[in-house]
Amino acid sequence: MRAAARAFNDMQARIAQFEAERLRTLAAVGHDLRTPITSLRIRAEMLDEAEGEPMIRTLDEMAVMAEGLVSFARSGHEAEPVAEVDLAPLLARLCDERGAVCEGGSAPPVRGRPVALSRAFGNLIDNAIRYGGSARVQLTQEGEMAVVRILDDGPGIEAARLEGMFEPFVRGEQSRSQDTGGAGLGLSITRTILRAHGGEIELSNRESGGLEARVTLPLG
Ligand SMILES: Nc1ncnc2c1ncn2[C@@H]1O[C@H](COP(=O)(O)OP(=O)(O)OP(=O)(O)O)[C@@H](O)[C@H]1O
Ligand SMILES: [Mg+2]
Repeated sequence: MRAAARAFNDMQARIAQFEAERLRTLAAVGHDLRTPITSLRIRAEMLDEAEGEPMIRTLDEMAVMAEGLVSFARSGHEAEPVAEVDLAPLLARLCDERGAVCEGGSAPPVRGRPVALSRAFGNLIDNAIRYGGSARVQLTQEGEMAVVRILDDGPGIEAARLEGMFEPFVRGEQSRSQDTGGAGLGLSITRTILRAHGGEIELSNRESGGLEARVTLPLG
């Protein structure tokens, strides 16, 4: 019994140490990214407005993410404040930045973290373009939910593998090569963000071919 208790305590101490190490690594990444982001922002401010403004907005988003890592490691909470988010203009901007087609639609605002939500939808649009060749984005309201659909006309995902794609570092068969570049983290991050907002994401293959990502977020 004594040996078992000692082994158990050792194990607990190792887990705690491991967790502390993990948080320190997160904080260090966030901290060290702040300096290059700031220096890039100073240079972007010197460009003329049309060129500089989108860069500054992206860098500001990166600063919020880096700050978020530090604050998460410190307190276990997200740093980005919750605000009322109007999804229509947010989606229009994401589509614009990526060359996706925003098919409009409307829904009342949701409450959420704008940068985190931009990352979630941005990941899905990036996937549709990267693996499906194009992306269309639709916004509707269904009952108490805002529903966002991201559609493409690509090969979709084999039904048996749909759920598994949400696991971190999991990538599709054809995309296992390094040349398409991904880490297999996009969907996992997206689902974590959406669930933290009380929302959900589902992937399905469309009858007419291509993948549909359907996101629901509670209104208000
Ligand atoms: N719209 C899509 N059509 C077909 N396959 C897709 C689509 N979206 C995702 N996938 C498949 O799901 C896998 C996991 O996607 P995920 O976004 O998590 O990672 P990734 O795109 O490979 O890398 P990362 O997003 O980290 O850059 C992809 O590698 C791809 O095989
Ligand atoms: Mg991806």
